[in-house]
Amino acid sequence: MASTEGEERAVYPGSFDPITNGHMDIIRRGAKLFPRILVAVLENPKKATLLSTEERVAIIRDIFKDQPHIEVEAFHGLLTDFTRVRGARAVIRGLRAISDFEYELQMALMNQQLNPDLETLFMMPSARYTFLSSSLVKEVFALGGSVHELVPPIVEQKLREKFASNPESLSS
Ligand code: COA
Repeated sequence: MASTEGEERAVYPGSFDPITNGHMDIIRRGAKLFPRILVAVLENPKKATLLSTEERVAIIRDIFKDQPHIEVEAFHGLLTDFTRVRGARAVIRGLRAISDFEYELQMALMNQQLNPDLETLFMMPSARYTFLSSSLVKEVFALGGSVHELVPPIVEQKLREKFASNPESLSS
């Protein structure tokens, strides 16, 4: 496998609690445009997550273990600082519906203010994922619904483990 060191990379940031097939779809689309995609998992002590940062990173690394051009790292603090340190000039965000737009526009413009050299690219996921969110996946799973079509198998397995060890963990 050829080294991907030094090639242009785009950062795809998010909470990924957990990663869904909608996120996977965006990563695949981004990888058609950039030689490398760096999936940046937000470590936010203020946000209560079902999965720890380490778990979220480990899951995504496992999913892409055979695709060295998809890298995964945790980050904290400002996204613009992280992208600067990693030498990335582009951020990818998924836009599922008009309702995403206002928040995404705000973030993109704030990031532009913080680093005018950083570009945000919005990508549309496949229409079949436009209804999908991490919270909905957790809710459906907690209520006994199938998430088989919505998340990678390793995520479904992880949800099962979490639920078995602590049924309350999925209810928030
Ligand atoms: N498919 C399915 N779901 C998607 C999706 C897609 N393509 N894109 C987003 N989502 C969902 C997520 O699952 C999540 O759902 P949830 O709310 O039910 O958990 C929701 O949309 C938003 O999550 P995410 O895309 O992970 O964004 P976020 O709001 O958690 O994180 C960051 C946004 C990480 C980019 C932003 O908070 C950040 O950059 N933080 C760093 C601090 C900083 O720099 N702040 C200043 C910037 S303005």
